[in-house]
Amino acid sequence: AQSAKESLYIVSQFAAAFFVKQLWETDEGKSIGLSYFKERGFREDILKKFEVGYSPDVWDAMTQSAVSAGHKLEFLESTGLSIKNDNGKIYDRFRGRVMFPIHNFTGRIIGFGGRTLKTDKNVPKYVNSPESEIYHKSNVLYGLFHAKKAIRDSDNCYLAEGYADVLSVHQAGIENVVASSGTSLTVEQIKLIGRFTQNITILFDGDAAGIKASLRGLDMILEEGLNVKIVSFPDGHDPDSYMHHVGAGAFKTYLEQNRKDFILYKANVLLKDAGNDPIKRAGIIRDIVESIAKIPDPIKASVFVRESSSLLEIEERILMSELNKMRSNKV
Ligand code: CTP
Ligand code: MN
Ligand code: MN
Ligand code: MN
Ligand code: MN
Repeated sequence: AQSAKESLYIVSQFAAAFFVKQLWETDEGKSIGLSYFKERGFREDILKKFEVGYSPDVWDAMTQSAVSAGHKLEFLESTGLSIKNDNGKIYDRFRGRVMFPIHNFTGRIIGFGGRTLKTDKNVPKYVNSPESEIYHKSNVLYGLFHAKKAIRDSDNCYLAEGYADVLSVHQAGIENVVASSGTSLTVEQIKLIGRFTQNITILFDGDAAGIKASLRGLDMILEEGLNVKIVSFPDGHDPDSYMHHVGAGAFKTYLEQNRKDFILYKANVLLKDAGNDPIKRAGIIRDIVESIAKIPDPIKASVFVRESSSLLEIEERILMSELNKMRSNKV
């Protein structure tokens, strides 16, 4: 007999194939799901590569199909694909959504993100698979399976927030991209990237939440001893919307020309609100030194102290003594 875990992989694969078939071969899938993807500017080869699909707007279409094909309800429930309500009635978790299957880094499907097509603010934009025996969110990066070779070859990993970002960056011809998707960035995800490269470039959304997450993310990356750069996007754009806004060629150039190291990025973000207020400026300088203090390698840290010194026009000696104070407070 198969292990329980193997059975969860198998029902997940069944569901993914079901959603793909719905998208490409049914009237509802084509007229609602596929046209949605097309309107957003996604190419067919990208949709196929990432095995996106469509879940019909029916109470239990996927569950029925899986059970008829001989799959056990028990396993469908364990993956969260099927849910039993209080009356014992079974229904599909994903209904009337475009589906993004989530692969582990060996390429097996372990979960899904489903995006609503409704603009109603009361409907959650994304519904995601719950944690299961095969899906541990904090250890998974969306897109890693399709990106890992390019990450090694380019010795850099672009890190975005969402499913659509990964697809669009790929579509622009940049394949070394993953997303934290459905969870805020974790240490485990950073360590996972660290198996392929020591260099991460953050591509978070240009909205307030994305900027905040990027500041937190860069500190975590520094703490893991990896190198971090940041590309930010104008006017609240995210990588997906910006790629479709400017086109693939201009997007690629933008990434190459707007990669900032974390000191410059942090200084830009924080100084924007500080103006000339000396007390606020002092706080920002401390904030930047705090990030430098997270870098385990003292030689690397000293390079960033020098850069901060010239950028912020503060004597290196003062920054160094501040850095040493922070380091000794930490232990
Ligand atoms: N997310 C989630 N649940 C939500 C909102 C977001 O799990 N209710 C996750 C999704 O993985 C999403 C990512 O966080 O892709 C980033 O969120 P957001 O920027 O709001 O969505 P986008 O990825 O930009 O989605 P889209 O472009 O389709 O609007
Ligand atoms: Mn596991
Ligand atoms: Mn966002
Ligand atoms: Mn976004
Ligand atoms: Mn988006």
